[in-house]
Amino acid sequence: MYTSICFLALSSVIHAEPESASIPKHSKSSISSMLGDTVNLWCNATGYPEPTVTWYAGSGEKLESIGISGNMLGIRNISQSCNTIYQCQAINSYRMKKPVVKNFTLRVDFIPDVSVGIKLNGKEILNGGSVLGRKKDRVVLSCSIYAVPPPNVTWSRDNITIGTYHHVNGAIEKSSNTDNFLYELKTKALETKIGITVTLDFTLDADYTFASYHCDAENEVGSNRKTVKINHVQKR
Ligand SMILES: *[C@@H]1O[C@H](CO)[C@@H](O)[C@H](O)[C@H]1NC(C)=O
Ligand SMILES: *[C@@H]1O[C@H](CO)[C@@H](O)[C@H](O)[C@H]1NC(C)=O
Ligand SMILES: *[C@@H]1O[C@H](CO)[C@@H](O)[C@H](O)[C@H]1NC(C)=O
Ligand SMILES: *[C@@H]1O[C@H](CO)[C@@H](O)[C@H](O)[C@H]1NC(C)=O
Ligand SMILES: *[C@@H]1O[C@H](CO)[C@@H](O)[C@H](O)[C@H]1NC(C)=O
Repeated sequence: MYTSICFLALSSVIHAEPESASIPKHSKSSISSMLGDTVNLWCNATGYPEPTVTWYAGSGEKLESIGISGNMLGIRNISQSCNTIYQCQAINSYRMKKPVVKNFTLRVDFIPDVSVGIKLNGKEILNGGSVLGRKKDRVVLSCSIYAVPPPNVTWSRDNITIGTYHHVNGAIEKSSNTDNFLYELKTKALETKIGITVTLDFTLDADYTFASYHCDAENEVGSNRKTVKINHVQKR
């Protein structure tokens, strides 16, 4: 996930009296960026002899060395996978047994990535944008979204909103027009902190159910739509 090409490191030479390594605490530890940006994380460890600075990356409890040393971690052409915690560890030989550490949280904002999984009578349909169905067929459309910051997600049939997921309160709001509110909307367990699946589960029980279904996801960066068109199998 992390390539050495992604990173570069810079060392600084510090002259001082013997002093344990330390890292300024006041400096920024939460950084926001956009896809493609270049971000420099500064550890700015001081001490004498010059501290050895090692960078780690990972999420949750798992931090792994990325094999980069130096006071600055430069990340070029930021990608979605750079969305994680970075930690610098600094240690020198003057009265130190354990390194001092500082965490940086890097947030990479990007437009929602939207995909829709289709099931017809329990069978997965892989051809993407369109489905041939018959009356009484059961359709499950699962819209999966990956986005930072988390998006609002709306399912609509043609131009009629069926329901909206609001990331602010995590609640699903169904259309207030009960004539259009026909189907059950579900949120699945969040696969990752920033992934969500909103599922539409219904039966092709009327002519108007043969329509275009749109999943729209919008966050502060932008919006994306995926459409599935359900056509009636032609009678011979
Ligand atoms: C860290 O050091 C660099 C280079 O000396 C400087 O440009 C930067 O502002 C420093 N950052 C912090 C947070 O102290
Ligand atoms: C830094 O992040 C790691 C991994 O999430 C965590 O275990 C550790 O407690 C954090 N340390 C500090 C100083 O915040
Ligand atoms: C930046 O990364 C993207 C993929 O994440 C790649 O397609 C693009 O060519 C890269 N740009 C540069 C300038 O390296
Ligand atoms: C939806 O589209 C139909 C025909 O395209 C139109 O008659 C109707 O007014 C539209 N409804 C809304 C709420 O925009
Ligand atoms: C998401 O929905 C909330 C509440 O309805 C709204 O305040 C917010 O502006 C929406 N965010 C976006 C990016 O549309």
